[in-house]
This record gives sequence, structure tokens and C-alpha cells, in this order.
Amino acid sequence: MHLALFVTADGVHHGGWRHPSADPGRGDFAFFRDLGLRAEAARFDLLFVADKLAVDDIYGGDIASTIRFRPSRGTEPLTLLSALAAVTERIGLGGTLSTSYSEPYHAARLFASLDHISNGRAAWNAVTSVSDAEARNFGRDEHFAHDVRYARADEFMHVVGRLWDSWDEDAVRPDKAAGTFADPAKVRYVDHAGEWFRVRGPLSVPRPPQGHPILIQAGASGVFLDLAARRAEVVFAVYPDIDRARAGYAELKAKVAAAGRPADAVRILPGMVPIVADTDTEAHALLAQLDGLVTAESGLSFMSGSMNYDLGQHPIDGPVPDIRSSIRGSKGRFDYVIGKAIAEGWTLAELGRWYGSSLSFAKFVGSPETVADMMEAWITSDAADGFVVMPASMPDGFDRFADQVVPILQARGLFRRQYEADTLRGHLGLETPLRQQHQPA
Ligand SMILES: Cc1cc2nc3c(=O)[nH]c(=O)nc-3n(C[C@H](O)[C@H](O)[C@H](O)COP(=O)(O)O)c2cc1C
Repeated sequence: MHLALFVTADGVHHGGWRHPSADPGRGDFAFFRDLGLRAEAARFDLLFVADKLAVDDIYGGDIASTIRFRPSRGTEPLTLLSALAAVTERIGLGGTLSTSYSEPYHAARLFASLDHISNGRAAWNAVTSVSDAEARNFGRDEHFAHDVRYARADEFMHVVGRLWDSWDEDAVRPDKAAGTFADPAKVRYVDHAGEWFRVRGPLSVPRPPQGHPILIQAGASGVFLDLAARRAEVVFAVYPDIDRARAGYAELKAKVAAAGRPADAVRILPGMVPIVADTDTEAHALLAQLDGLVTAESGLSFMSGSMNYDLGQHPIDGPVPDIRSSIRGSKGRFDYVIGKAIAEGWTLAELGRWYGSSLSFAKFVGSPETVADMMEAWITSDAADGFVVMPASMPDGFDRFADQVVPILQARGLFRRQYEADTLRGHLGLETPLRQQHQPA
């Protein structure tokens, strides 16, 4: 199986930073360096750094609840990953960059550069962003509509691929005797003129060691799946349980095949929150302890930012209203979350506390053996190719997973004991794209 570590300073559980074992003042490079080295020692495929381009201010109309109730600092992914590239040797380095608030030339250059300085370990999580708060930091009043931002993302990724292809693998051949450095016949303009972008090229960085840095996409909606089926190499998925995971896995692999690609050209990694303790009983007690530390406002303000909808306009102790048609942010996953809350008869406060527990990702709760059993069940029943491991609290949540669960997975032959490749593409077992395959029709 393949494992990505969701890198945070505070854990994803909204009670994690308040747990007695947490050290919520961290977030300095020494913390991330130690985490990266420990994940590499545990042979994770990659580190993954998420991103958001704003401090959410939709809940109640201002930033107060975001600032007050949970850690909301975000280290810029490429900056952090560049530093981690210098202190690690084998582990992959994945970071988020938005296709809505960046330019293809900029994205292509950043990830090609990270791929060069890390000797082939870079991955780009191409997201479309979710909120008006993000739009307002980039000259817009409102975020692009859902279908519009995916159309822009499609063209964006196409241009990035062409920029990476603008240099042949063997373009750079320094010849001291002849005085020639590179072959101009092997470097070419891109000359892209589309609906969103006009890009001449070529890229100012030679072809990346992986050919193309790994392309990750994360999402759940139908339009997302159509795009991911055509372009993604790794999909970060949100499946709340194994049955939905099996259905989602089959649907996406079928779409990949329908798009004319081998089904195994895409690795599907659902996010999972491990809650690990010495016994199952203690793990459930730990989860209850963490859940008791979540404030409803913390979960509701985070949800509001991700949905691009202000849940603060409804009474917090009243029933969850059916606002599914008003979601303008992340649609796929919140259609499910709101539907579930209505079916369960929750109040908004109950929904906020539930969401703050694992952000709707699956929780794997139990002893190390129980958690390993659950992971094995997902892997062996076509529910996943691996996982995005999202520790609930830091560093405790990561330590327990790496020290206690990973050795069991290794002993069962489900996870590598040693890296067998030098590049992230190699760890993932994905083919290197040939330049010719990516020329425009
Ligand atoms: C594991 C995982 C990581 C994600 N990381 C980010 C991120 O860093 N930044 C972001 O804007 N969205 C992130 N998302 C959310 C999606 O990229 C996306 O915004 C949204 O879920 C897609 O919306 P859709 O379901 O309506 O297509 C992540 C999702 C998952 C499952």
C-alpha cells in the first residue's frame, strides 16, 4: 500500500491541539524537519502539505471564530517542501497549489524546480480552491463558480504539462570542447492560446527528473471525478466508510478506463484519521476525550469556509437546515455531510462537533492490530490503493501510527520495509510520461 502523511503542526482533529500530549506552540522548521525525517524512517511514500489562501471569515461574517477556536496558521507548501527537500533523501514531497489563484507558468516552474532540487520527489496537489475569502485575496469579490473553476483547472493542467514537455530529456548536453551547452532543437515554444491562458514558453527550467512531477487531485464532486479520471496520477479521496470507499474506488477506476487510461495509472488514497492506543477500549476512550475538546463553533466555522456558506446564520441549537443547493465551495463531500446530519436529526452544534472530530474522513479507531486490520481490509477489498494518514493530534498521533501500526503492516508484507526507488514516481510504481505523449493533438 502507499502512504502519504498529511503534514500539520496540530493534527486534524479539532480537539487535537488541546490534548494534554499536544505542544500547540510548535510550527517551526525543527518540528517539520523531525516529522519529515521520522516519516522517511517509516518509509512513507510522501509528505503532503495542504493549503488555503485565506483566513476564513464567512462564519458569522468575520475572522473571529477562525482565529479564536482552532489553529489556523498555514505554512506555504512549496517553501516548507523546499526546506524539507534539503534534509530528506527519499520521501516524496507533495504540495497544494491552486489553479484558480495562480498561473500555469508559475506552477510549472515551482514544481519543476522542486523536482530538480529533490532529485525527482515532487508532487503537485492541483486544487481549485473553495471560498470567497480566497477570491478576495486575489482581486475578485467572489470565487469562480464550480464548473467554471474546473474548466479553468483543466486548461491550467494542460498548459503545465506542455511547459514541462517544452524541454526534451536530453536537451542539456554541455560540450566544453565545442562550446555548446544545450541543443536548441530540443527546446521549443508552447504557444498556447486558450480560453483562460496565453503562454508562449518554453519553461525556464529543464525537463524535471520525473518527466512530470506527480499530479495529485483531491475532491469528490462529479465534475472533479471527470477531470481526475483524465489527468490525476494520485487521487486523495474522502470516503467515510469501507462500503462507500469500494463504490467510489470502482467508479473512479471505471472512469479512468473510460478516459482511455490503464486503471492502475491512478492511485486512490482515501484520507484516514488513525486513533491508536494500546487496546481498542483505550483507543475509543482517547477518541471520546478528543471529541470532548471540540467546540461546535470550531467545526462549524471550518465547515462554513470549506462550503463557502455561512452556517452562523442559523440557530446553533436548531436542526441542520437543508442548504445543499446553496453550497458554492466543496460540493461533493458536503452534499454527503449535510445529508447525513439531516438523516441523523442533528442540531448544528452536534454537526459542528462531529465535523471537528475528523472532517468527515474515516476514523480508524483501535489497537495497532485493529487499525492494521482495517487498513488491510480496505486494501484487499478494492477500497483503496493506500491512505493519506491524517494524525488527530501532533506529535502523539503520528508517533503512535509510525511506531506501532507501520511495523505491523510491514510484518504482514503490506508495506515496504525499505525504499526500492529513488523517486516518488518509483515509490508509487507509476510510469514516467514520455514527452511525445503530451504534445497537443
Ligand atoms: C486529502 C485531501 C486534501 C485536500 N487538500 C486541500 C488543500 O490543500 N487545499 C484545498 O483548497 N482543498 C483541499 N482539499 C479539498 C479539495 O481539493 C477540493 O477543494 C474539494 O474537496 C473539491 O471540491 P468538490 O468535491 O466540490 O469537487 C483536499 C481534499 C482531500 C480529500
